[in-house]
Amino acid sequence: MKLIDGKQIAADIKEEIKAEVAAMIDNDLPGPHLAAILVGEDLASQTYVRNKEKACAQVGILSSIYRLSAKTSESELLELVDFINKDDEIDGFIVQLPLPDHINPDRVIQRISPEKDVDGFHPLNIGKMVTGLPAYLPATPFGIMQLLERSGIETEGKNCVVLGRSNIVGTPVSILMSRKANPGNATVTICHSKTKDLKAVCQNADILIAAIGRPEFVTGDMVKKDAVVIDVGIHRVKSDKTKSGYKLIGDVKFDEVSKKASFITPVPGGVGPMTIVSLLLNTLKAAKKKAPK
Ligand code: GUN
Repeated sequence: MKLIDGKQIAADIKEEIKAEVAAMIDNDLPGPHLAAILVGEDLASQTYVRNKEKACAQVGILSSIYRLSAKTSESELLELVDFINKDDEIDGFIVQLPLPDHINPDRVIQRISPEKDVDGFHPLNIGKMVTGLPAYLPATPFGIMQLLERSGIETEGKNCVVLGRSNIVGTPVSILMSRKANPGNATVTICHSKTKDLKAVCQNADILIAAIGRPEFVTGDMVKKDAVVIDVGIHRVKSDKTKSGYKLIGDVKFDEVSKKASFITPVPGGVGPMTIVSLLLNTLKAAKKKAPK
């Protein structure tokens, strides 16, 4: 079994981005600038945004955070989106999800200029991704594709089973895996709560992508020998073996499945570190479209 070291792969890609940003600045080109809008005080969202800010600083990408109160109205948020859409200094931006219940996330996402939608959530970018046109790819699926590519995993003609059909992971990764590209060209099955005989479907997977949001759902008996297993889940559970009293686990029962898999991503340190790197890559791509200073 080989561990897919997402932490190392993410660090390598960050070094490459850092060199590209430095070259842009050396050539007197405007460096990339990412903005993030954070509405409310959701603790996980605050951590995500702080981590995005930190990652930008590590590679030399400028970042701006707009922090709005949880009471912000939808129209006020849309006004800020319009303002950033028009701000030539900002190459790309994200609106951190989830939003407070009184704000419709679809209306907000659809208001973001597709040119600046570095999350790849706008329907135009999703449509471009589906038809194979150049697009900003959503962070987690993009990160998974890079893990496969950089680990030298062959995907062509393979049976790929995706557990979960969310808009931000399961559905887009199934599209990318089936696309005529490398990585891609796989035969893809998407499983969800209504799938019959899920175990038998999983046992047929050469590549199993678990994005179901259920701790240790995938057990050893569900996995074919030498399968490649990508674990997208991240769950904080109580543990008497750690100092903090908590540990992070994925959607995959690692100790059982790692005995059968040829490649597997750990949690933490697998898919997680790749998501921020994907956002940085999208921001770099957006900045390259900008006119010289
Ligand atoms: N919340 C959880 N993941 C994401 C993400 O990738 N982008 C945004 N905007 N919000 C999120």
